[in-house]
Amino acid sequence: MFRAKRILVTSALPYANGPLHIGHLAGAYISADIFVRFMRLCGKDVLYVGGSDEHGAAITIKALKEKRTPKDIVDQYHADFQEAFSKMRISFDIYHRTSEQIHHETSQEFFRELYKKGEFQELETEQYYDTEAKQFLADRYIKGTCPKCSNEDAYGDQCENCGSSLSPTELINPKSTISGSLPTLRKTKHWYLSLDKYEEWLKDYIENGQLDGKEHHDPAEWKNHVIGQCKSWLDGGLQPRSMTRDLDWGVDVPKEIPGSEGKKLYVWMDAPIGYISATKQWAIDNNKDWEPYWKDEETALIHFIGKDNIVFHCLTFPAILKAHGNYILPQNVPANQFLNLEGRKISTSKNWAVWVNDYLKDLEGKEDELRYHMIKIMPEQRDSEFTWKGFQESVNNELVNNLANFTNRVIVLTNKYYDGIVPEYDENQGISSCHDMDELSFHDSELISLFDGLSEMGDCVRKFDFRGALTAFMSVSSQGNQLLQFNEPWKHVEDDPELVKVVINIGLQYVAAISIACRPFLPNASDSLRVMLNLDPIKETGEWNEMMNQLAEGETPLLLAGHKIQQAKHLFDRIDDETIQGQIDKLMATSQTDTETKSPVKSTVQFDDFTKLDIRTATITAAEAHPNADKLLKLTVDLGFETRTVVSGIAEHYAPLDIIGKKVSLLANLAPRKIRGIESNGMILMAEDDEGKLAFISPENGMMNGASVR
Ligand code: MF3
Ligand code: ZN
Repeated sequence: MFRAKRILVTSALPYANGPLHIGHLAGAYISADIFVRFMRLCGKDVLYVGGSDEHGAAITIKALKEKRTPKDIVDQYHADFQEAFSKMRISFDIYHRTSEQIHHETSQEFFRELYKKGEFQELETEQYYDTEAKQFLADRYIKGTCPKCSNEDAYGDQCENCGSSLSPTELINPKSTISGSLPTLRKTKHWYLSLDKYEEWLKDYIENGQLDGKEHHDPAEWKNHVIGQCKSWLDGGLQPRSMTRDLDWGVDVPKEIPGSEGKKLYVWMDAPIGYISATKQWAIDNNKDWEPYWKDEETALIHFIGKDNIVFHCLTFPAILKAHGNYILPQNVPANQFLNLEGRKISTSKNWAVWVNDYLKDLEGKEDELRYHMIKIMPEQRDSEFTWKGFQESVNNELVNNLANFTNRVIVLTNKYYDGIVPEYDENQGISSCHDMDELSFHDSELISLFDGLSEMGDCVRKFDFRGALTAFMSVSSQGNQLLQFNEPWKHVEDDPELVKVVINIGLQYVAAISIACRPFLPNASDSLRVMLNLDPIKETGEWNEMMNQLAEGETPLLLAGHKIQQAKHLFDRIDDETIQGQIDKLMATSQTDTETKSPVKSTVQFDDFTKLDIRTATITAAEAHPNADKLLKLTVDLGFETRTVVSGIAEHYAPLDIIGKKVSLLANLAPRKIRGIESNGMILMAEDDEGKLAFISPENGMMNGASVR
């Protein structure tokens, strides 16, 4: 695939309804940035586009809540994103926004074309309507209980807990998010894209990498979790999806289409087209042609996204592109999973997040440090977690003790022993080596290890394995450290000056290589190292290839003997405990866990009401899966004076074998109920926290079964 003539890379357009946080960075931006920088270093024609997603209910709801205009909201967060991305050195060729005229026109052109081709079904359906707010309730305007996982905060279009895509009428107990009122059903007409029509075609594309009978890509190169998610959508059967909404903010359905009044494009129709409008704007600004990037089969299109966007990039958008015709399809969609923070889900509304611009104020100048740690913990295959302690350890143990330590020592010693001039060395002087390669000189064998380490790094980047790439890169730095550690040049300037010359020369070749290789991960460090080495800054125009050729041929060193370098400067500094504790305290102090999200205490009851409940201690003596329900367990409990069968909804939290023998509290006089065919006699009491974590209410050791709880 990377034989492709050009590469078009996109990062998901973040919703302009809240500031950028580290979860965003981990999902779709740092990964894409590593990839594009590396491809540019390889001399590829790469275009990297992004922008803000400024439509959709996420934005208008926020505007409504804050009594501001949607425009005001998107302007604020678009500016926040621009600042955060530029400081973090996410190297977009263009960072656009979907409120621009050119985007509205481009999206409308798509809509028109699909309409003309008869790709839409016009359907009149009943949709929820808020009579107080006088508006239809699409997507995020409606909340309710997810029919698939019982999450009570599912949106009308998607459940963020289980990832299911929903339609508002599937929600249990639907509620308007504007007024909280119970919505009523009203008739409305919309345009539906017949995704079902593309089901087989999409299957062939996703599962076989085939496009209209031709090989398009190798599905083995896609991440398992991405294909897995697509398969489960495809297996569930694709339904026609409405591409329009009754809203007053968004891209207008083209005026000439009958019935267009008051209708806007669905945000998931217009947003991905944002990648195309951004490309068009970039082409205008740079006097280039946008079309080869989207229409030439020799372009590899890569979408970097978070896992909640998979269906839209792997199924819906490809179907839209196909329905329109003449567009290429994504070559790969290397989606990341989610990043948690200090043991909990990142949440904008609960202020449980590390906001990028706050970080950049508090830890000014530490952009590379954040990039480094985010790559190290990137949720590439599964969810992962950011902790402040983990961040501190990465910086202190790896960036400071390994990378900065190595490069600093080489540069300091070069200045100290040779006035900053790269030393000439004599291959024929007998010298010991930590490598055991008889035929090769010490110098050559060291450079071969360097070459191998860098090749490994490159292979990982090409496979979208950025954690692996970082590990390979850091091993190169460790190798450099070992070279110094083993040969101890500082001990031998007097007794073995020839050894010291070779070691320092090799060390300098390593540092020169590192100044290029660190570029995709740590652009600031790359700039600093180039200054220290007295070399031009990296322009990302083929330097990687040049370096690999030089190393492979073994003739031209990366730094010539006689070249004069500059003084060493600190590359990375240790982060102290106070700084870290300060950030942890800030997170705890500003998050809204205690008062706002805990369910309020219920209304008062009298003592008599309480005494009606007969709660007893008991022991679970047997447990098995409920034959008719995934979420339920069938338990046998011993009350001392009798045994009971109880059906309990804890199967997703406990395995039957793990709870046999567990001491519990049981509501013993609850009226018997048949649950999915099994009679349940009583209820096990459980504690449940905000995150849905469960715990048994267990009597302390030694309490007999059947004791009363009061
Ligand atoms: N705004 C969406 C989100 O934050 C992502 C849109 S990606 C798109 O989940 F490009 F397709 F727009
Ligand atoms: Zn769900």
